[in-house]
Order: sequence, then C-alpha cells, then structure tokens
Amino acid sequence: MAILKTDQEEIELQDRSRIKDVAEELGIPFGCRSGICGTCKIEVLEGEENLDDLNEQEQAMGDRDRTHRLACQCSILKGTVKIKSERYGSNVFFKR
Ligand code: FES
Repeated sequence: MAILKTDQEEIELQDRSRIKDVAEELGIPFGCRSGICGTCKIEVLEGEENLDDLNEQEQAMGDRDRTHRLACQCSILKGTVKIKSERYGSNVFFKR
C-alpha cells in the first residue's frame, strides 16, 4: 500500500496506481483530467522519488519537474507522498 497525504489528511491507495481520484478526495482541484489545463498542478513536498517519471503531457506543460507535477497524470509507485495544490498555495487570489 502507498499513502498520499496533505497537511490535513492522508489516504491509502494501491502501489502503482494513478493518484487523481485520491488527490481529488484530498481537495486538489481538477479540470480537464487529461494534462492540458493545469488546474491540477501540485507541489510534491515529500516522496517525489515514489512517483513515476514525468509523462509527455507533464513535459509539454513546460514548468513541471520531479517536485511540480500534474495530479491527473502521475502515478504513485510505493511509499508515502505529500502534496499540496499549487493553486491554493499561492496568494494570487488575495492580492490587492
Ligand atoms: S486536470 Fe487539467 S491538467 Fe490535470
């Protein structure tokens, strides 16, 4: 079993499974679910080595790396991975 978690909660999932459904339960926002819109951008705070390699859609986005992923595209291989939404993590909505 692997674990996907945020600051608030954690959920177990199968090794080598896509993280998108569990990430959504953890509060990560989603849009297209196909690697195009960028709504699901996450920062990987711990355990980036437990995620699979960046796929074509993530590479095509241009600003993704091992610790900045698309939750709709990556899979967890094993172990624990801690994430946070890049959307909620920014101050963009609160700037005056
Ligand atoms: S939901 Fe659109 S890129 Fe992931």
